[in-house]
Amino acid sequence: MKRIVLTGVSRGLGRAMTEGFVAAGHTVLGCATSAEALERLRKRFGPPNRFALVDVSRDEEVQAWAKEVLAAGGAPDLLVNNAATISRNARLWEVSTDDFSRVIDVNVKGVANAIRHFVPAMVRRCQGVIVNFSSYWGRSVAAEVAPYCATKWAIEGLTAAMAQELPEGMAAVPLNPGIIDTDMLRVCFGEAASAYLSPKEWAKQAVPYILSLGPSDNGQPRTVPGQ
Ligand SMILES: NC(=O)c1ccc[n+]([C@@H]2O[C@H](COP(=O)([O-])OP(=O)(O)OC[C@H]3O[C@@H](n4cnc5c(N)ncnc54)[C@H](OP(=O)(O)O)[C@@H]3O)[C@@H](O)[C@H]2O)c1
Repeated sequence: MKRIVLTGVSRGLGRAMTEGFVAAGHTVLGCATSAEALERLRKRFGPPNRFALVDVSRDEEVQAWAKEVLAAGGAPDLLVNNAATISRNARLWEVSTDDFSRVIDVNVKGVANAIRHFVPAMVRRCQGVIVNFSSYWGRSVAAEVAPYCATKWAIEGLTAAMAQELPEGMAAVPLNPGIIDTDMLRVCFGEAASAYLSPKEWAKQAVPYILSLGPSDNGQPRTVPGQ
C-alpha cells in the first residue's frame, strides 16, 4: 500500500493514474487547479485519498499542501510530478513573455516546488521514489514547441542531478510517458491526437510500471513500456 503524491490529477494522464493507483489499493494525495474536477474526484475516491486545490507554480500553495499531507500521514512513498502545460504552437520568437513564463513556471518551477516541500521528509526515511514526467521532447525536439522542449530537457537534467544527491535506497526518475490523446496533445497535434491511445488504455501499462520503479532506476531516463 503506497501513499502517492500526484500533481495534475484533474485530467489526462493524472486522472487516469489516479484511477489506476486507487484500483490497485494505493492512496492518492493529488492536486490540480480546477475546483470542479477536484470535487468530482473527492466524490469518486473518498478518504484516505485527498484532492487539494493547488497551483504547483505557487510555492506557498505547494508548501501549505505538503504540510497538510505530511501531517496527515507522513512522507509519501512515491511523488509523481505529472502536472504540466504547453503553449500554443508558435516559433520561439513569437511566444509572448507571459506564455513563455507560464510554461517554465508550471513545468520546471512547479516540479522544483513539489520536490522542495515533499522530498526532505522522504530523505529523512531514506525511502521513496520521485518520478518527474518528461517527454519525447525532453530527449528530442520539434519546431513550434520550443518552450515546452526547454522545460522537458530541464526535467531530464534536474532529475539526473538530483539522483546524485539522494541517499541510497531512493530514486529520482525522469519518465517519458509516450504519446497519449489528452487535452495537452490536442493543443499541439490538433485532431491528429485521436490516433493515439486514450489515457485509460495508457494507464494499464503505465500504472504498474511506475509502481515498479525503484533504486535501480535512480537517475535513468525511462519510457513507459509499449510507447
Ligand atoms: N499527452 C502526451 O502525449 C504527453 C507526452 C509527453 C509528455 N507528457 C507529459 O505528461 C504529463 C501529463 O500530461 P497530459 O497530457 O495529461 O496533460 P493535460 O491533459 O493537459 O493535463 C495536465 C494536468 O496538469 C494539471 N495542471 C496544469 N497546470 C497546473 C498547475 N499550475 N498546478 C497544478 N496542476 C496543474 C491540469 O489540471 P488543472 O487544469 O485542473 O490544473 C491537468 O490535470 C505532463 O507532464 C506532460 O508534459 C504528455
